[in-house]
Amino acid sequence: VDDNDMQFIKMHEHITDLFHHILIHTNEGEAALNYLIDRGFSSDILKREKIGLAPKMSSFTKNAILEKGFTEEAAYSAGLLSRNEENFSYYDRFVNRIMIPIKNHQDYVIGFTARSIDGSEPKYLNTPETKVFQKRHLLFNLSDARKSIRQQDEVILMEGHLDVLKVKSVNVENIVGLMGTALSDENINLLDRLASNVTLMFDGDNAGAQATMSIGEQLLKHGLNTFVIQLPRGMDPDEFIVENGEAAFRDLVKNEKRHYVHFLSEKLLNESMHNDLAYSQNINALIDALKYVNDSAIKSRLIMHISERYNIDKSQIESRLPVKNPVKR
Ligand code: UTP
Ligand code: MN
Ligand code: MN
Ligand code: MN
Ligand code: MN
Repeated sequence: VDDNDMQFIKMHEHITDLFHHILIHTNEGEAALNYLIDRGFSSDILKREKIGLAPKMSSFTKNAILEKGFTEEAAYSAGLLSRNEENFSYYDRFVNRIMIPIKNHQDYVIGFTARSIDGSEPKYLNTPETKVFQKRHLLFNLSDARKSIRQQDEVILMEGHLDVLKVKSVNVENIVGLMGTALSDENINLLDRLASNVTLMFDGDNAGAQATMSIGEQLLKHGLNTFVIQLPRGMDPDEFIVENGEAAFRDLVKNEKRHYVHFLSEKLLNESMHNDLAYSQNINALIDALKYVNDSAIKSRLIMHISERYNIDKSQIESRLPVKNPVKR
């Protein structure tokens, strides 16, 4: 953290407090505050997370930054202002949006994800890549979750920022959020240093299933024990809690955790039913994935499961597995 980084951080910490004040204490914040309360975000969560509102003004942030003695250029480099490339004037990047602060791993605010509340696109607008806000190095909520992740030797990964915040409020703490749709190698190395078990809990839609497939494979092949919690069709973690309550959510986390290979096996089953080519290819994919399963008890259970579901002899699978996981742990 050099002086320049510290300046970016100070701008963000300052503007976070202003946005938060607007949401909680002003008439201008009332509609957004009601929206959040209606969605089940208590004022305790909003305060603890310093959720805010960027007001419907094109130079609120700009003026606040100038008043505090920073330059427009600095605020632009930090991702708080945009620039008109014709006359080089600066204006607010975030207008009329709910502001969710994003902290780096040292617990400093370095950026935002900002949800629109008037239907304008994109639904979420993030801080652009800056010197201190680099998505490949970030996981949302990591600074708060780190201790719990270490204690439990497990990290639960979610898609949405609001999912993470809602789940924290029902006392499940080892949660981090993806910064976008991909997991970088840096993200994976970071998770690997913190825990040996990673659980994916993505949205119960096609995009969520696709992300589970590709990110699950990445994690597994990195040598991590990778699990999946599947949500009911069409629900994300936040919606599940709203619909079914905290107890049902905790029950899901405690009792419905399948190994990634189990998830994969169920995903590939349908297309294998009446298609022998797909059957053969999918068996190959499952055997390839099984090579990376570290725990021999789980591996044996997975072999049993695949053998039953795919009508294949266990020995057929076992004979094609190497004695050791190709990733040395
Ligand atoms: P979702 O569309 O599932 O949003 O995107 P959500 O988190 O459930 O949001 P709500 O409940 O409608 O408020 C999941 C994540 O994908 C990223 C965001 O990080 C979001 O939390 N995303 C989504 C974007 O970056 N931009 C978008 O326009 C949409
Ligand atoms: Mn989604
Ligand atoms: Mn949602
Ligand atoms: Mn969602
Ligand atoms: Mn089973």
